[in-house]
Amino acid sequence: MEKVKIAILGFGNVGTGVWKILQENKKEIMKRSNYDIEVAKILVKDINRKRDITLPKEMLTDNIDDIINDESIKIVVELIGGPGVAKEYMIRAMRAKKHIVTANKLVIANWSKELFKIAKEENVLFYYEASVAGGIPIIREINESLTANKIQQITGIINGTTNYVLSKMTMDGISFNEALKEAQEKGYAEADPTSDIDGYDAVYKLAIMASLSFGTEVDHDCIYREGIRNISDIDIEYAKQFGYTIKLLAIAKQEDNKLELRVHPAFIPSSHPMANVNDAYNAILIKGNAVGELMLYGKGAGDLPTGSAVVSDIISILRNNVAPNDAKNEIDKADFKEVKKSCDNESEFYIRLDFKDKAGVLGDTAKIFGNNDVSIVSITQDVEHTTHATLAFITHKSSEKNIKKSLDKIIKLENVNKVESIIRIESFK
Ligand code: NDP
Ligand code: HSE
Repeated sequence: MEKVKIAILGFGNVGTGVWKILQENKKEIMKRSNYDIEVAKILVKDINRKRDITLPKEMLTDNIDDIINDESIKIVVELIGGPGVAKEYMIRAMRAKKHIVTANKLVIANWSKELFKIAKEENVLFYYEASVAGGIPIIREINESLTANKIQQITGIINGTTNYVLSKMTMDGISFNEALKEAQEKGYAEADPTSDIDGYDAVYKLAIMASLSFGTEVDHDCIYREGIRNISDIDIEYAKQFGYTIKLLAIAKQEDNKLELRVHPAFIPSSHPMANVNDAYNAILIKGNAVGELMLYGKGAGDLPTGSAVVSDIISILRNNVAPNDAKNEIDKADFKEVKKSCDNESEFYIRLDFKDKAGVLGDTAKIFGNNDVSIVSITQDVEHTTHATLAFITHKSSEKNIKKSLDKIIKLENVNKVESIIRIESFK
């Protein structure tokens, strides 16, 4: 069988996962790709680092030129991450006529247009299945299996780290910091976990999915973003009391040629299948006008699940399939879609106030909501102390604008100490 040489850039969580799959499933991969894949070089930052996997000494390098200048290497698999050298190395590899596989959502969300253009110019393939939702084959689903549909909405739990943290806080009652440390130890988090916790990672992934689904170029800076840093165990308890579970959701909707795009924590009904997506699992609910609702579920992070998507991309290149980004290359100006301002979005809301337990506060607060067209579904009041009591509200569907107007007035009431939390509710209606 013909041999093909590949290089892996980065030998961390995902890089080692790819290595293990290439060894463990060698026979199957040979059969399916018709090639005997040989890893010729692996690029790392610190060549002297002690690693769990022992590699032949000549395989490791810290010099990208060893890979770029080696004409026998046909595919470069970028698993370094981050914006830094990853983009530069992919461009250099394409200019040297090498096909690319990457898991780097940050680079795809920021520079896909430039990268796909170079891929076209150099007649090389550029695959990025692992960049969204780890082991879930969502890019192929959108680009191949769902092409008969107008996609109307995507709702996803697409960050494994935050889902791990929220599930551990909800189910095991452990602290935010403890749960994050565990997620990092398991290899789910980005090198800088701020990207996970503050919602940037999910924003990049949503931008990629929305661009492909709606045939437009989504600028990730236009996506409303809120992370999970401020979610407290108190909110998790109130969510349970009201029949909800808190998840970090990524939502993309198309209505009247306008896009609504947002990433934020949300209360979701505990009876909904998405509420039972725990640990580092991801799930993506897609609504198409022909297929109806479709839900994909699987491991969204980790060495082997992510490695599974990366190795499948390598096999696709060897089978010489059409590049999945071709559809996106065809986007022209006519496909431009406006992104709605977040203040025009509508949701139901959970709002928690800290107040002084004095007569009339509840009435004054409810009146302000009413005057601003915000209608209340339920209220819970917990009095711990006369100076610090809690009011938790669930509203009917209201505009973000009206919620903001109400809270600007409520916070000025003499006996309201603080607006502790504002969390949107996604009822999937
Ligand atoms: P890690 O931090 O575990 O590994 C990064 C690797 O890149 C290390 O081997 C490191 O070398 C190497 N590296 C870092 N900087 C350089 C440099 N300047 N030059 C050469 N090599 C360098 O990252 P992950 O494996 O977790 O993630 C890799 C990519 O996959 C990222 O884009 C990430 O977003 C994406 N991804 C990750 C998932 C996961 O579950 N972890 C899931 C889906 C996507 P050294 O070993 O010497 O330090
Ligand atoms: N840090 C990412 C996550 C890795 O936790 O989902 C998978 O993209």
